[in-house]
Amino acid sequence: MDDHAIGDILVKPDELQNRVRELAAEISRDYADRDLVLIGVLKGAVFFLSDLMRQIEVPCEVDFMAVASYGSATKSSGVVRILKDLDAVIEGRDVLIVEDIVDSGLTLQYLLRNLGARNPRTLEVCALLTKPERRKVNLPTRYVGFEIPNRFVIGYGLDHGERYRNLPFVAVLNE
Ligand code: IMP
Ligand code: MG
Repeated sequence: MDDHAIGDILVKPDELQNRVRELAAEISRDYADRDLVLIGVLKGAVFFLSDLMRQIEVPCEVDFMAVASYGSATKSSGVVRILKDLDAVIEGRDVLIVEDIVDSGLTLQYLLRNLGARNPRTLEVCALLTKPERRKVNLPTRYVGFEIPNRFVIGYGLDHGERYRNLPFVAVLNE
Protein backbone atom coordinates (compact mmCIF):
# COMPACT_ATOMS: atom_id res chain seq x y z
CA MET A 1 0.00 0.00 0.00
CA ASP A 2 1.56 3.30 -1.06
CA ASP A 3 0.40 5.42 1.85
CA HIS A 4 2.62 7.90 3.66
CA ALA A 5 0.72 7.36 6.92
CA ILE A 6 2.27 3.88 7.15
CA GLY A 7 5.57 4.37 8.97
CA ASP A 8 8.25 2.05 10.29
CA ILE A 9 7.25 -1.59 10.69
CA LEU A 10 7.50 -2.65 14.34
CA VAL A 11 6.33 -6.26 13.99
CA LYS A 12 6.65 -8.16 10.71
CA PRO A 13 4.09 -10.74 9.50
CA ASP A 14 6.28 -13.75 10.29
CA GLU A 15 7.09 -12.38 13.76
CA LEU A 16 3.36 -11.99 14.41
CA GLN A 17 2.60 -15.54 13.30
CA ASN A 18 5.49 -17.05 15.29
CA ARG A 19 4.47 -15.27 18.48
CA VAL A 20 0.81 -16.20 17.99
CA ARG A 21 1.86 -19.84 17.70
CA GLU A 22 3.88 -19.58 20.94
CA LEU A 23 1.00 -17.94 22.83
CA ALA A 24 -1.44 -20.57 21.56
CA ALA A 25 0.88 -23.36 22.73
CA GLU A 26 1.11 -21.77 26.17
CA ILE A 27 -2.67 -21.32 26.37
CA SER A 28 -3.26 -24.91 25.19
CA ARG A 29 -1.04 -26.19 28.02
CA ASP A 30 -2.61 -23.93 30.66
CA TYR A 31 -6.23 -24.66 29.69
CA ALA A 32 -6.12 -28.42 29.17
CA ASP A 33 -9.23 -29.85 30.91
CA ARG A 34 -10.71 -26.38 31.45
CA ASP A 35 -13.81 -24.69 30.03
CA LEU A 36 -12.15 -22.00 27.92
CA VAL A 37 -14.11 -19.08 26.49
CA LEU A 38 -12.14 -16.56 24.45
CA ILE A 39 -13.67 -13.10 24.57
CA GLY A 40 -12.63 -10.86 21.72
CA VAL A 41 -12.93 -7.13 22.11
CA LEU A 42 -14.31 -5.71 18.87
CA LYS A 43 -13.11 -4.69 16.48
CA GLY A 44 -9.34 -4.60 16.78
CA ALA A 45 -8.83 -8.00 18.42
CA VAL A 46 -10.68 -9.97 15.72
CA PHE A 47 -7.61 -10.50 13.54
CA PHE A 48 -5.31 -11.62 16.36
CA LEU A 49 -8.08 -13.72 17.92
CA SER A 50 -8.89 -15.66 14.76
CA ASP A 51 -5.22 -16.50 14.17
CA LEU A 52 -4.74 -17.39 17.85
CA MET A 53 -7.84 -19.57 18.13
CA ARG A 54 -6.88 -21.61 15.06
CA GLN A 55 -3.63 -22.57 16.80
CA ILE A 56 -5.23 -23.48 20.15
CA GLU A 57 -5.42 -27.23 20.56
CA VAL A 58 -7.90 -27.55 23.45
CA PRO A 59 -11.70 -27.25 23.23
CA CYS A 60 -12.75 -23.59 23.34
CA GLU A 61 -15.52 -21.19 22.46
CA VAL A 62 -15.48 -17.62 21.25
CA ASP A 63 -17.68 -14.66 22.08
CA PHE A 64 -17.39 -10.93 21.52
CA MET A 65 -17.88 -7.66 23.29
CA ALA A 66 -17.88 -4.21 21.78
CA VAL A 67 -17.01 -1.24 23.93
CA ALA A 68 -16.47 2.41 23.23
CA SER A 69 -14.37 4.60 25.41
CA TYR A 70 -15.25 8.25 25.55
CA GLY A 71 -12.31 10.37 24.53
CA SER A 72 -10.32 11.37 21.47
CA ALA A 73 -9.35 9.03 18.63
CA THR A 74 -5.93 8.35 20.12
CA LYS A 75 -6.54 8.65 23.88
CA SER A 76 -9.04 6.76 25.99
CA SER A 77 -10.72 8.37 28.98
CA GLY A 78 -11.47 5.31 31.05
CA VAL A 79 -15.20 5.91 30.80
CA VAL A 80 -16.39 2.89 28.88
CA ARG A 81 -19.76 2.11 27.33
CA ILE A 82 -20.86 -1.39 26.28
CA LEU A 83 -22.08 -1.37 22.66
CA LYS A 84 -22.47 -5.14 22.40
CA ASP A 85 -22.55 -7.51 25.34
CA LEU A 86 -21.69 -11.22 25.41
CA ASP A 87 -24.12 -13.85 24.16
CA ALA A 88 -22.70 -16.41 26.59
CA VAL A 89 -23.13 -16.73 30.33
CA ILE A 90 -19.60 -16.94 31.77
CA GLU A 91 -20.35 -17.84 35.38
CA GLY A 92 -18.11 -20.72 36.45
CA ARG A 93 -16.18 -20.75 33.16
CA ASP A 94 -12.54 -20.05 32.29
CA VAL A 95 -12.56 -16.70 30.55
CA LEU A 96 -9.68 -15.30 28.54
CA ILE A 97 -10.07 -11.72 27.31
CA VAL A 98 -8.29 -11.22 23.99
CA GLU A 99 -7.25 -7.63 23.30
CA ASP A 100 -5.33 -6.01 20.48
CA ILE A 101 -3.41 -3.53 22.61
CA VAL A 102 -3.19 -2.35 26.20
CA ASP A 103 -2.37 1.34 26.21
CA SER A 104 -3.42 3.22 29.37
CA GLY A 105 -5.10 0.01 30.55
CA LEU A 106 -8.33 1.82 31.38
CA THR A 107 -10.50 -0.12 28.91
CA LEU A 108 -9.16 -3.40 30.20
CA GLN A 109 -9.59 -2.34 33.81
CA TYR A 110 -13.26 -1.73 33.11
CA LEU A 111 -13.65 -5.07 31.30
CA LEU A 112 -11.96 -6.98 34.12
CA ARG A 113 -14.30 -5.44 36.65
CA ASN A 114 -17.39 -5.92 34.53
CA LEU A 115 -16.66 -9.54 33.60
CA GLY A 116 -15.30 -10.35 37.05
CA ALA A 117 -18.66 -9.39 38.54
CA ARG A 118 -20.26 -12.23 36.53
CA ASN A 119 -18.27 -14.77 38.58
CA PRO A 120 -16.22 -16.66 35.99
CA ARG A 121 -14.09 -19.46 37.46
CA THR A 122 -10.95 -17.77 36.13
CA LEU A 123 -10.41 -14.49 34.29
CA GLU A 124 -7.18 -13.73 32.42
CA VAL A 125 -5.96 -11.45 29.65
CA CYS A 126 -4.14 -12.13 26.39
CA ALA A 127 -2.99 -8.94 24.66
CA LEU A 128 -1.10 -8.86 21.40
CA LEU A 129 0.64 -5.57 22.20
CA THR A 130 1.34 -3.51 25.26
CA LYS A 131 2.81 -0.03 25.71
CA PRO A 132 4.27 -0.13 29.24
CA GLU A 133 5.24 3.56 29.19
CA ARG A 134 1.60 4.58 28.81
CA ARG A 135 0.11 2.41 31.55
CA LYS A 136 -2.01 4.31 34.07
CA VAL A 137 -3.29 1.32 36.02
CA ASN A 138 -1.56 -1.88 36.99
CA LEU A 139 -3.28 -4.90 35.47
CA PRO A 140 -2.64 -8.63 35.39
CA THR A 141 -1.87 -9.41 31.72
CA ARG A 142 -1.08 -13.11 31.76
CA TYR A 143 -0.17 -13.40 28.06
CA VAL A 144 1.47 -10.61 26.08
CA GLY A 145 2.67 -10.79 22.48
CA PHE A 146 5.02 -7.83 22.24
CA GLU A 147 6.00 -4.79 24.27
CA ILE A 148 6.20 -1.74 22.02
CA PRO A 149 7.39 1.84 22.54
CA ASN A 150 5.06 4.76 23.10
CA ARG A 151 3.96 5.23 19.49
CA PHE A 152 0.53 5.06 17.86
CA VAL A 153 0.47 1.90 15.76
CA ILE A 154 -1.69 0.52 12.96
CA GLY A 155 -2.22 -2.83 11.25
CA TYR A 156 -3.14 -6.44 12.14
CA GLY A 157 -6.46 -5.19 13.51
CA LEU A 158 -5.33 -1.82 14.83
CA ASP A 159 -6.93 1.16 13.17
CA HIS A 160 -6.65 4.85 12.79
CA GLY A 161 -10.08 6.22 11.94
CA GLU A 162 -11.20 2.64 11.08
CA ARG A 163 -8.54 2.23 8.39
CA TYR A 164 -5.39 0.08 8.17
CA ARG A 165 -6.79 -2.90 10.09
CA ASN A 166 -6.01 -5.08 7.05
CA LEU A 167 -2.23 -4.50 7.06
CA PRO A 168 -0.49 -7.85 7.72
CA PHE A 169 2.09 -6.17 9.99
CA VAL A 170 2.14 -3.64 12.83
CA ALA A 171 3.54 -0.24 11.82
CA VAL A 172 3.91 3.19 13.34
CA LEU A 173 1.39 5.77 12.14
CA ASN A 174 3.05 8.81 10.59
CA GLU A 175 1.04 11.85 11.68
P1 IMP B 1 -6.61 1.99 26.70
O1 IMP B 1 -7.94 2.02 27.37
O2 IMP B 1 -5.89 3.31 26.78
O3 IMP B 1 -5.72 0.86 27.18
O4 IMP B 1 -6.84 1.82 25.14
C1 IMP B 1 -7.34 0.67 24.63
C2 IMP B 1 -7.86 0.81 23.21
O5 IMP B 1 -7.37 2.00 22.54
C3 IMP B 1 -7.33 -0.34 22.39
O6 IMP B 1 -8.16 -1.48 22.51
C4 IMP B 1 -7.30 0.25 20.99
O7 IMP B 1 -8.57 0.13 20.37
C5 IMP B 1 -7.01 1.72 21.20
N1 IMP B 1 -5.57 2.00 21.02
C6 IMP B 1 -4.65 2.28 21.97
N2 IMP B 1 -3.43 2.47 21.44
C7 IMP B 1 -3.57 2.28 20.10
C8 IMP B 1 -2.64 2.34 19.01
O8 IMP B 1 -1.42 2.58 19.12
N3 IMP B 1 -3.18 2.10 17.77
C9 IMP B 1 -4.50 1.83 17.57
N4 IMP B 1 -5.40 1.76 18.57
C10 IMP B 1 -4.93 1.99 19.83
MG1 MG C 1 -9.61 1.31 18.15
